[in-house]
Amino acid sequence: MNRLDAAQRVRELAHVIHHHDHQYHVLARPEISDVEYDRLYHELEQLELAYPDLVTPDSPTGRVGGKPLETFASVIHAIPMLSLEKTYSQEELSSFMDRVVRLLGHPPGACVVEPKIDGVAVSLRYEQGILTVGSTRGDGRTGDDITANLRTIHSIPLRLQSDTPPPLVEVRGEVFMPKSAFAKINQALSDQDEEMFANPRNATAGSLKLLDSNEVSQRPLDALFYDVGAIEGFTLDRHETLLQTLAAWGFRIAPWFRTCADRNTMFDAIAELLSIRHQFPFEIDGAVIKLDQRSLYVKLGATIKNPRWAVAYKYQPERAETRVKAISVQVGRTGVLTPVAELEPVFLAGSTVSRATLHNADEIRRKDIRVGDIVVIEKAGEVIPAVVEVRIDRRSGVESVFEMPRQCPDCGSPLVQQAGEVAIRCDNLQCPAQCKRWIRHYGSRGAMDIEGLGNVLVNQLVDMGLVHDPADLYTLTIEPISQLDRMAQKSAANLVEGIQASRNRDLWRVIFGLGIRHVGTRSAQTLESQFADLDLLMQATPEQLEGLPDIGPVVAASIHDFFRKPCNLDFINRLKLAGVNLTRHAAAPVASVLVGKTFVLTGTLASASRESITERLRRIGAKVTASVSAKTDYVVAGDAPGSKLDKAQSLGITILDEPSLLELLARGESGHTS
Ligand code: IVH
Repeated sequence: MNRLDAAQRVRELAHVIHHHDHQYHVLARPEISDVEYDRLYHELEQLELAYPDLVTPDSPTGRVGGKPLETFASVIHAIPMLSLEKTYSQEELSSFMDRVVRLLGHPPGACVVEPKIDGVAVSLRYEQGILTVGSTRGDGRTGDDITANLRTIHSIPLRLQSDTPPPLVEVRGEVFMPKSAFAKINQALSDQDEEMFANPRNATAGSLKLLDSNEVSQRPLDALFYDVGAIEGFTLDRHETLLQTLAAWGFRIAPWFRTCADRNTMFDAIAELLSIRHQFPFEIDGAVIKLDQRSLYVKLGATIKNPRWAVAYKYQPERAETRVKAISVQVGRTGVLTPVAELEPVFLAGSTVSRATLHNADEIRRKDIRVGDIVVIEKAGEVIPAVVEVRIDRRSGVESVFEMPRQCPDCGSPLVQQAGEVAIRCDNLQCPAQCKRWIRHYGSRGAMDIEGLGNVLVNQLVDMGLVHDPADLYTLTIEPISQLDRMAQKSAANLVEGIQASRNRDLWRVIFGLGIRHVGTRSAQTLESQFADLDLLMQATPEQLEGLPDIGPVVAASIHDFFRKPCNLDFINRLKLAGVNLTRHAAAPVASVLVGKTFVLTGTLASASRESITERLRRIGAKVTASVSAKTDYVVAGDAPGSKLDKAQSLGITILDEPSLLELLARGESGHTS
């Protein structure tokens, strides 16, 4: 293909891909399959690789990639991002409206009621229709430049869908983490004994603050938009028109809003929104009421903090009262005991709640929660119910103080509490509760991916004494399994086949499946890239481990300790005897060897842009950073390299020229051996 044809095709592909991004991420109406989408995307990537000068700033391939930042730059908002005055009752809202009438000297006409999304406010600057800067609200006048992070959100258009976009517009809205995605992330964190996010808003704010946009791209963020700041060469006379215009430009807008002619319809709309608040995929904490006539905005103006033409109506966080029937104790995968309040079922924030987490023994003591107490519960972030208060005034005297057990409720082993930790744990790896969780983890999709090994089955296998740990799975035969409840011969045979097939998984899956505290998939992949087999990993010193990417002192100590426990050594030995692969696959793709390696690029590369090389390296698990340090694994020197090359030489870091890099990449991508 010649350059002219390539340029034409690049434009076509960008257009088509933008269209499908919008169909999929904004409208949830995909028109093509993922495979077809990937094919278009790949074709564009290849063309951009061959003709780097054809890469445009709004190319759909530019959502991820780029090097991690050292800090965020500051952005001055052309028009400040104000916050909203809050009201909590119909009376307060009425007085707000009375003031509007007083200031205007006449009724304001219609208003729009829309959800108040509980996320993080952002502003997107589009120049000639192209996204140039994305920023946080900051103090309202100046925010952080988080453009790279915002570009990773697929529902944010990189260019406006319009042939006549305004020369400049600041589009404002809210980034959020959908409730379902938040629940999944927290579950995964809890499975790995990591600290969980308090609510979706914290998870969103934490994600947007990451300096590495590649990491942000892994976070399931979404965004919707409801306002404009500065806008040139374009007038929007009504708020409803503004919302429609944003939707036409390709933004996601709230799936629900009402234009109300008078106060009564406004109150009805607020009540309607309250009644459906749990049906939205994101959290809302109230309603926002805006005058529909935007010409009134200038007349009404703003205080230092708030506009006088819009107001928030905050819903009270939903609370309910119920009785603590009992306090039970759950044993997690890594043995941590969590006390849980068993409640008389009560309806709260969209669902029936019968349990609330009590976090740990300290928390129970601090709040003085007793069995039999009437307690007030609240859905913190609507997802995890928590006890916020004990109704001490309603005690009758029969309530009993809860004591944490001294022995594991499942296996009776004595419990341990490490110095400096609030967590109390059961250290017995044979504990049935832990066994079940461990076996589930071992067989899960992210670890050994054992087909047919569901939760119910794991419970039965452990309860019947057929397996005590994941290594026992390999001794299972069809006969005893088919005796279990609701297990036919065929499904028993499938399970055995699934288990046997798992013997040949990648080493990192086994490492992850071991269930070492703090070791997730990413660190497991790093470990595989550094140790050719499990024996070598087992011999590693904490110092050796600590030097690896993604592995700090806590993780290193946890890995080291795991391999010093006789029961774990016995377990690994039985995996070995069962024929489970404990070696980096002989045919390990270069990709896995490059996982976690740090690259620095210097000088001009002839064949491709730095961004596309960065993206390709990132895809196969490597990292690209800005400056050379002792942690750098490879420096790629293009034409006219800078001082980074001298530094690399002085530190004795491997230096690659462009052809070697491309070869390494090509082999990594096609999965051939090194
Ligand atoms: S309009 C000048 N509309 O609430 C007013 N804000 O306290 C611009 N928010 O910082 C805001 N949903 O982060 C508006 N539908 C909505 C909103 C909304 C959530 C947030 C926004 C703002 C805060 C105001």
